[in-house]
Amino acid sequence: MTAAELRLHVPEQDRYAKIMGIGSYRPRRVVDNAEICTLIDSTDEWIRTRSGIRERRWASADETVHMMSLAAARTAVERSGLHPAQVDTVIVSTVTHLWQTPSAAATIASELGATGAAAFDISAACAGFCYGVAMADSLVRTGSSTHVLVIGVERLSDLTNRGDRSTAFIFADGAGAAIVGPSPTPAIGPVVWGSDGDQAHLITQTEPWDRAMDSAGGDSPGGPQWPVLRMDGKPVFKWAAFTMAKAAAEALDRAGGAADEIEVFVPHQANMRITDAMLRALRLPESVVVARDIERQGNTSAASIPLAIDALLASGEARSGQTCLIIGFGAGLVYAGQVIVLP
Ligand SMILES: CC(C)(COP(=O)(O)OP(=O)(O)OC[C@H]1O[C@@H](n2cnc3c(N)ncnc32)[C@H](O)[C@@H]1OP(=O)(O)O)[C@@H](O)C(=O)NCCC(=O)NCCS
Repeated sequence: MTAAELRLHVPEQDRYAKIMGIGSYRPRRVVDNAEICTLIDSTDEWIRTRSGIRERRWASADETVHMMSLAAARTAVERSGLHPAQVDTVIVSTVTHLWQTPSAAATIASELGATGAAAFDISAACAGFCYGVAMADSLVRTGSSTHVLVIGVERLSDLTNRGDRSTAFIFADGAGAAIVGPSPTPAIGPVVWGSDGDQAHLITQTEPWDRAMDSAGGDSPGGPQWPVLRMDGKPVFKWAAFTMAKAAAEALDRAGGAADEIEVFVPHQANMRITDAMLRALRLPESVVVARDIERQGNTSAASIPLAIDALLASGEARSGQTCLIIGFGAGLVYAGQVIVLP
């Protein structure tokens, strides 16, 4: 069969994609800086001025990756006006689902009632939500999927050494979810994304699981040591503050927009000073609403952007229909950003 004879059938649905609804879940337990300072040699003032964090949430035993994902997903589905059975694809972005297999997405799809949905996990750390939205946008526009559930979820407290001064005050837990579905008008701009594996060592697990198990040698007193996250904060800060502002500007440009057309800015909630540096570099108008969820939530990696968007919508600081620039960046190193219309 020649290319001319091949008649590809693409299902008829609206040509573009949009975010239809967002939901989130915040763990119950609030951990303030005073509590952190009982674990590491630090002060509330140092943590606030260097990172912008006042408190974060750490999940309790029952607040598993699945439980938090399902809570966020149910809200997103309901706010989209859908029944769970209408979700035909589930993408879960996480680096803290501790099962190598099966994926978190397949069981979450079943438990949600999205029976038979295509389901898979992605590992793109703090850029994971934006990677998921980019994939969902493409899946919907090609007609491969109709309603894609994108979840960003983390229990970073499981992989944090609570005595490590460079990470213990930063990382936290939570989940955010979005439904991406068909739209008659463009509502998700082209993604700008990439990676720099030469800098993989800057944020990484201390060692792979096999080495952690082997190094215990069977007779180590505490048994195998759980690998934890290790971060070289300074170079990560520089990379994020300078390179990511350029990527965000490119996402804006590729969406055909100008800085003064952006109404809401939701960067990955990594550090308040990174957000401020990006804001200065992007020259966004004074009126732009900026997500500062890190103050109360810490850095929740793949969950941070949907958690922050949901908070802005709930407080009324941001409104449905506004144009919003999102950008995620983190371990890999990887990044992704795009312009979206808020649901
Ligand atoms: C982690 C981070 C807040 C540290 O801030 P920093 O200004 O780079 O801090 P440094 O490591 O250079 O340390 C500066 C000083 O503070 C001290 N310090 C380090 N951690 C500390 C802590 N938790 N509490 C108190 N003091 C601390 C250091 O000992 C050093 O003291 P000195 O000047 O007397 O030697 C910052 O590097 C950062 O935010 N990086 C990006 C992290 C990030 O966003 N990661 C996620 C990306 S997904």
